[in-house]
Amino acid sequence: MTKTSANTAYSPIGVFDSGYGGLTVLKEIVKTLPQYDYLYLGDNARAPYGSRSFETVYEYTLECVMHLFDKGCELVIVACNTASAKALRTIQQKDLPNIDPSKRVLGVIRPTTEIVGNYSKTGHVGLFATQGTVNSLSYLIEIGKFFPGLKVFQEACPMWVPLIENNEIDNPGADYFVQKHIRHLFSQSEHIDTIILGCTHYPILQKKIEQFLPKPVTILSQGSIVANGLQDYLQRHPDMERRCSKGGTMHFLTTDSPENFDRHASLFYSKPVSSEHLELL
Ligand code: DGL
Repeated sequence: MTKTSANTAYSPIGVFDSGYGGLTVLKEIVKTLPQYDYLYLGDNARAPYGSRSFETVYEYTLECVMHLFDKGCELVIVACNTASAKALRTIQQKDLPNIDPSKRVLGVIRPTTEIVGNYSKTGHVGLFATQGTVNSLSYLIEIGKFFPGLKVFQEACPMWVPLIENNEIDNPGADYFVQKHIRHLFSQSEHIDTIILGCTHYPILQKKIEQFLPKPVTILSQGSIVANGLQDYLQRHPDMERRCSKGGTMHFLTTDSPENFDRHASLFYSKPVSSEHLELL
């Protein structure tokens, strides 16, 4: 995992999530930008992040980003809303200038909030996300910058990630929790016509969400939004683009058992995956 060719340093684009959810983003990024090398890191040993404190999510995220830098990444995508909400700004503003000001860490909230207003006719948008993302108010704050007139209604879904991570989505328990949170969201406004899946795990539940929605609404899931955002970023930052190696390779790291990771990852990535264990410091 050190070189892509005799002369080119291996400098993959790092993609990080608390567990499997970031694979739904990686899948779309690779479809859009297949030429680059990618290194995925899932912190499965410590997932879920959604109900953890700001301090803990920040500490875990920084540690994982540092591991990706150590493996040669110049650019890291935090493909986790909870980590983007709770850790990204501090890493960008406080840590990166000390670690290496030429490296970059990008998140998944900004690209979503930049476009959401283009989809809603009623001006009422719903957000499903983890408790941590909802508490951070990051979506409200960011959307307010781009679409100040938009009303955003949030619903935290603390059971959705555990149901997904434990492969329980086809069971009646999953139906119960999906229906419950849809009901809560629409009780805040019946005019919601656009919903953001503000957690990278949630695309796995999209069909079930659609099945229980009270009316047709536009569902925005982040994979293709983040992929288009990254493409645009690399076009606008040719220096960074040049530093990302282009071997078309894919490597997966997990902080937990690679056997477990490989068994579950294909649900998210839609292809077989072969991972290696990463020892946390
Ligand atoms: N996939 C992560 C997100 O986008 C959250 C999962 C977790 O709770 O760890 O928020």
